[in-house]
Amino acid sequence: MKRIGMLTSGGDCQALNAAMRGVAKTLFNAKEDVEIYGFLNGYQGLIYGKFRLLTYADFSGILTKGGTFLGSSRTPFKTIQDPDENGLDKVAAMKQNYFKLQLDCLVILGGNGTHKTANLLREQGLNVVTLPKTIDNDLWGTDMTFGFQSAVDIATDAIDCIHTTAASHGRVFIVEVMGHKVGFLTLNAGMAGGADIILIPEIPYDIDKIVEKIKERHDRGSAFTILAVAEGAISKKDAKLSKKEYRKKLENYKYPSVSYEIAEDIKKKSGLDVRVTVPGHTQRGGSPCPYDRVFASRLGSEAGKLILKGEYGFMVGYKNREIVKVPLEDVAGKLKMVDPKSSIVKEAKMLGISFGD
Ligand code: F6P
Repeated sequence: MKRIGMLTSGGDCQALNAAMRGVAKTLFNAKEDVEIYGFLNGYQGLIYGKFRLLTYADFSGILTKGGTFLGSSRTPFKTIQDPDENGLDKVAAMKQNYFKLQLDCLVILGGNGTHKTANLLREQGLNVVTLPKTIDNDLWGTDMTFGFQSAVDIATDAIDCIHTTAASHGRVFIVEVMGHKVGFLTLNAGMAGGADIILIPEIPYDIDKIVEKIKERHDRGSAFTILAVAEGAISKKDAKLSKKEYRKKLENYKYPSVSYEIAEDIKKKSGLDVRVTVPGHTQRGGSPCPYDRVFASRLGSEAGKLILKGEYGFMVGYKNREIVKVPLEDVAGKLKMVDPKSSIVKEAKMLGISFGD
């Protein structure tokens, strides 16, 4: 008999359900008896003992469904070792609930913060297997996270829609893409949507170069310009600020997000009409695309295989088109970013896309 706990933590994304189904089907189809306990709303469920025994039916009909049927929440790693408002030791509580249920292993689906806590639990002696989810694709140790491709599709769709109206009106349009501190989503959706300018955190921009590119397009007869701007995009000037100085700037920030600052700067410098579109959380919503359904199912299945073999302490990742197991201690606390010297950036530049650098 294997007793498994399962939880989804952090911002949701597409294919979380597909991944859990992948784990569960693999376990239920094995010869061994298996019990799966679902903890509700991420680590909160594990801390406060909110769980339910899941059956085969719970994993039926969820392959195509977005979100997570277990619910999710953000439980920041930086305060995980602090007592809660009632003085509860959260880490001790998680261990207690794990041992009370006599679990053999926890399956944890999450992104960067989630992996730090998962690794802490491993260090505390719990058996853990994790799966890499996030639309940001910023998890170290895997070339791809599930949710990413679906979000690329949605962000691309937004850029496509903007393209036709931008062309009709001869306007400059900014589409702000999620991705937190990294630019994978913006880079891929920007290229797929034919953006003329792509701004990502890894390549700080110079507003004059952006205006130059817009003017160059105008001179060539293109009255409109599309910018795909990562929510974490940063100017060269701001990139030079210390963390403290940058935080201070944000405290007095008058814009809803960086795209609005860029829009105002472009208007001031060029006199052109600029519009901003922010697809926001739509990028995390809806059904997973077919790629993510297959990818998450495969990762889930491999996680099930590890559990059946009793191999714990790993994230199931994807490297050079192979599914791999990556030690959790290697994953935790590291951020994967776009390499400004990578071939995809070079190719984008050869296509005439400006990164504002
Ligand atoms: O990590 C996924 C993500 O969607 C980021 O792209 C974004 O910066 C963040 O989560 C938004 O967080 P929240 O849903 O908590 O506002």
